[in-house]
Amino acid sequence: MENLKELISKVQIEERTKSLAKQIDEDYKGQDVVFITVLNGAMFFSVNLALNLEKSVKFTSVEVSSYGIAKSSSGVAKLKKDISLDITGKHVIIVEDIVDTGNTIKFLMEHLSSKNPASIKVASLLNKKERREVEVEVDYIGFEIPNYFVIGYGLDYEDDYRNLPYIGYIE
Ligand code: IMP
Ligand code: MG
Repeated sequence: MENLKELISKVQIEERTKSLAKQIDEDYKGQDVVFITVLNGAMFFSVNLALNLEKSVKFTSVEVSSYGIAKSSSGVAKLKKDISLDITGKHVIIVEDIVDTGNTIKFLMEHLSSKNPASIKVASLLNKKERREVEVEVDYIGFEIPNYFVIGYGLDYEDDYRNLPYIGYIE
């Protein structure tokens, strides 16, 4: 892709992920944790975060689609795939690639709360605060980024470029 610029390097991502994992290990000592990976974008981050943990975590995933324009997320989220684990009484961490308008996380929080987990927190590799439309709390943030459309490390442009080993943006 032309005009592709690096925003966050692979090394930066790996180092930050390690420190987030350390924080999660400390915060959840002696507790059962379930990672709920938001497919497909958060796959890479979720795996890396988990591989850096000392504790054991369970894995399940959701897939969400948003109506409207493909690239920027729109208001309404819809569940394409639900979790396949019972999270009743469990400590849940929703793992996302990016929180943008906040609509996806808000929707997932509401959806998952109804399954009565002990707690729900959010871990997101990226946070684009400038674009927020609804208020959501992101407990573990990899990087705050400006209002760029980014690709790589799981993030896609029309389903491509997810396997770019760094976070890039198109200039
Ligand atoms: P939200 O519901 O607006 O917070 O949108 C979150 C979802 O929009 C993410 O899970 C991404 O799939 C997608 N998204 C938002 N910004 C970007 C971006 O810069 N690059 C790629 N995908 C993005
Ligand atoms: Mg996504």
